[in-house]
Formats: sequence, C-alpha cells, structure tokens
Amino acid sequence: MSRAMIIGTGSCLPERILTNEDLEKMVDTSDEWITTRTGIKTRHIAGAGEETSKLASVAARRALDMAGVTPAEVDMIVVGTISCEKAMPSCACLVQKELEAVNAFAFDINAACSGFLYGLDLADKYIRATPDMKILVIGAENLSSRTNWQDRNTCVLFGDGAGACLVTGSDQERGILASKLYADGRLWELLHMDSAPSLNPDLCGQPSDGPFIKMVGKDVFRYAVRAMADAITAVLEKEDLAIEDISLVVPHQANIRILKSLADHLRVPLEKIYINVHKYGNTSAATVPIAMDEANREGRLQQGDLLLICTFGGGFTWGAALVRW
Ligand code: ACO
Repeated sequence: MSRAMIIGTGSCLPERILTNEDLEKMVDTSDEWITTRTGIKTRHIAGAGEETSKLASVAARRALDMAGVTPAEVDMIVVGTISCEKAMPSCACLVQKELEAVNAFAFDINAACSGFLYGLDLADKYIRATPDMKILVIGAENLSSRTNWQDRNTCVLFGDGAGACLVTGSDQERGILASKLYADGRLWELLHMDSAPSLNPDLCGQPSDGPFIKMVGKDVFRYAVRAMADAITAVLEKEDLAIEDISLVVPHQANIRILKSLADHLRVPLEKIYINVHKYGNTSAATVPIAMDEANREGRLQQGDLLLICTFGGGFTWGAALVRW
C-alpha cells in the first residue's frame, strides 16, 4: 500500500529580527517576563516583498530543490494559513503562479496552527488513491499583520515565516504511518481573530474584536498540553508503538512551557523534542514545517527514523501524525 513519503523540505524566514529588547521599547514588557513565560527571545517580522505567499514560495522552492523535482511536476499545492495577504485568491494559487507550477491545482486550509498537519493528512489521502502524485504541503504565516502591537498579552508571542515539504507515494515502509485530527468549535472564543468589518449595511456595527489575534492564554495552555498528549497516544496506539520507539517529536512551537509540560506528560526527555520557539516565536501553521526542515538539514532525521508531529491551535484544532522518515 502506498503512503505519503516526504522527499524534500524547505523553509523561509523574513530577514528582520525583532528581539525582546526591541519589544521593551514598544509595550510595557521585559525580556525577563517574555523569556520566563514563553521561552521566546526573538521572532522574524516580514517587510516589503516578504508577504505570506512570497515566503511560502521560497520555502516550497527549497523543498523542490532538495527533492530534485521541477515545479511543472507538482500536481497539487495546499497551504495552511490564516494570514495570507489576500483573502482571494488563495495563498496556494499565488504560490502556484510564483513557482510556475502550471500543472498543479491549489487551495488553502484554515485550521490555524494545525493547518500544515491537516494539509499533510489530506495529501496522504490523495496519495493513497493516486500514488504517483507530487504534492507540496506548506504552512505559511504573516502573523505580524494580524497582531495588535499595543496588546502586550499577544504581541510578544508571534512571528512570521513559512515551511514546506514535498510528498509522493512510497511502497516501502517509509511515509505517514498514521494520523489523527480533531476539532472542537465550541471553544472558538478562547483563541480567535475576527474578519475585516462587514460592508453589508444590515451587519455593519455588529460588535467585533477587530482583525487581531485574541486569546485566553491560561485556558489555551491547559487544553494544548492535554490535547496534544492525547493525540500522540492515539496515533501510537494505532501502530502499536510506544513513545520510546520515537526518534524525534516535532510539536507546534507556541511556548517552551507548553513543550516542557508535554514532555512531562509523555515522559520523554526534552532532548527528544525539537525546539526552535526561542528563535521564531509562534508562527502558527508554519512552526512544524519550519522545525521539520531545520531538523532535517541538521541531520536529526535519518532514513528509517520515527518522527512524531503534533499540533494545537485556534478552532480548537489539533492532531498528530507518525512518519517513518
Ligand atoms: N509583559 C509583561 N507582563 C505581561 C505581558 C507581557 N508581555 N503579558 C501579560 N502580562 C501580565 C498580565 O497583564 C498579567 O498582569 P496582572 O496580573 O497585573 O493582570 C500578568 O502578566 C499575568 O498574566 P497571565 O496571562 O496570567 O500570564 P501567564 O502566566 O498565563 O502567561 C502566556 C501568559 C504566556 C500567554 C501563557 O498563558 C501561555 O503560555 N499561554 C499559552 C498560550 C499560547 O502560547 N498561545 C499561543 C497561541 S495558541 C497556540 O499556538 C497553541
């Protein structure tokens, strides 16, 4: 049976780096508060020419280069994003144009921080039906454009960036062994962002929090740890594996304290959890593919290794996937 195998990874971060010291000059905060509460030291912030689709295209091109595949060979492009520079067309269509991937169909997924994982799961389903497909799965965000820079509760947490992978069918033991996705829309208010104000005269004036990320941090923290741990247990059970069999966990990077709690819950040493939140902050759908690309290029993922991906984000949406590298 064929399953989706990752044959190339890539990532792209904007050039400008915003440090905690820079933020001290913008809002009433301190490096000490941000570091101890979140683990974040710096984040990358997009400038002109670094729109979401541009970052996504560079990451995708790097994944294609690693795989030795041309844009014209790509059959499908799926982008997880909540912050494309355009509401229409999709970010995926803009990437298709940028890459000249003329034979690909393209669309976005809105599953917030779980967008990349939802896309990877979908790509796996396509590939199980049509194994020779080549699919670009991307997570790309420009959260600096959706951040209230006067709100110290949120503006210290987020960053911009993109990560991508190219998948195709594998008849060997490699590829996505199992995945499990979840959602609970009843909890949407704990982490949300309104759309642009309505132009419909009947709907104008309805209460809106504005097109910024709003969050009840403590509740999100609590749900995130439990949900990711449960999702991991579910995919391990599907394959009759134990956490000790895993070579590396690449989780959504929101906060070092969430990652430490997750490690405690799973009883895995922190060294088995890939962490880069200190450099990039929370880049939502982009955190996992950026981390996966870094781990891959650093040689921390070798053929045959078992990789566990897990995510949690607005919706709430969450899930996990088990990948034989
Ligand atoms: N600098 C200084 N003080 C701050 C800052 C800041 N940047 N932000 C908040 N504070 C203050 C608050 O105003 C509050 O002050 P008060 O007691 O006088 O009212 C105090 O710090 C404590 O605030 P809490 O919200 O209780 O702080 P907490 O310890 O919960 O930490 C944090 C906040 C870091 C957001 C935490 O709740 C958390 O990690 N939540 C997880 C959510 C997360 O990471 N979300 C990312 C997006 S979701 C996702 O990707 C899964």
